[in-house]
Amino acid sequence: MALKSVEAGGTARKEPDTKMSQVVVKDLRKSFKIDDMQITAVDDANLAMEKGEFISIVGHSGSGKTTLLSMMGAIVRPTSGNLYFEGRDIFSLNDDSLSEYRAAKIGYIFQFASLIPVLTAKENLLLPTIFAPNGKQSGTEKRALDYLEFVGLKDKINAYPYQLSGGQQRRVAIARALMNNPELLLADEPTGDLDEQTEAEVMEFFRKVNRDMKITFVLVTHNTALAETAGRRFRMSGGKLSEASA
Ligand SMILES: Nc1ncnc2c1ncn2[C@@H]1O[C@H](COP(=O)(O)OP(=O)(O)OP(=O)(O)O)[C@@H](O)[C@H]1O
Ligand SMILES: [Mg+2]
Repeated sequence: MALKSVEAGGTARKEPDTKMSQVVVKDLRKSFKIDDMQITAVDDANLAMEKGEFISIVGHSGSGKTTLLSMMGAIVRPTSGNLYFEGRDIFSLNDDSLSEYRAAKIGYIFQFASLIPVLTAKENLLLPTIFAPNGKQSGTEKRALDYLEFVGLKDKINAYPYQLSGGQQRRVAIARALMNNPELLLADEPTGDLDEQTEAEVMEFFRKVNRDMKITFVLVTHNTALAETAGRRFRMSGGKLSEASA
């Protein structure tokens, strides 16, 4: 990790170098207000990732994992703090540019089923390519079929989500997240409802895209055995992010 030492109030502390690391999360905070209650879901998280890194994040339910991931995916704007991608201050972008950034760089696997019910499996995969910047449009049909085959759903390309099991829907969502050749893949409990064998295959797939395509990969999981396989491991607790010691 690229770190530089800075003086803060007289005491030296380690700060991620926003110019050096591919992804830098800097004091990201997200608070929600419900009635008179203020909840800080993510409490000044800091994290720096190099291109091609694989990290995992574990933590109890409600600890802020999804909220952090949705800010890293530029889906939700923070209450305060910054996200840098290759030195670019992402939340300084307007909403249109933010959407373009997301389509170009981010693959996101949502925690809960997120397929469009009126589209078939193949059409669900083709959907994000419509929003992709120019140059990524060629070969999309073939890529959709290849990815569906890879996740073991070759015979389901024309099936609608309601015709698929929970695990099959999850696999379609995984394939869809890769359609625009993302540089940062954010997976929120991607293997939550898969059987052991499919989970192992999907994880091997993730490792392969992470290794071979140098896609930076963040895995949120409750499965500590899966979390252990990451290059670096993090924990969320009460909105605070900390790195587990090796
Ligand atoms: N849109 C929202 N409005 C209000 N509160 C929210 C919102 N989203 C999340 N929260 C609250 O923020 C906290 C963190 O939620 P989050 O979904 O990030 O947890 P999580 O670690 O992903 O949990 P799980 O493991 O159950 O998925 C919770 O207390 C939740 O109720
Ligand atoms: Mg969650």
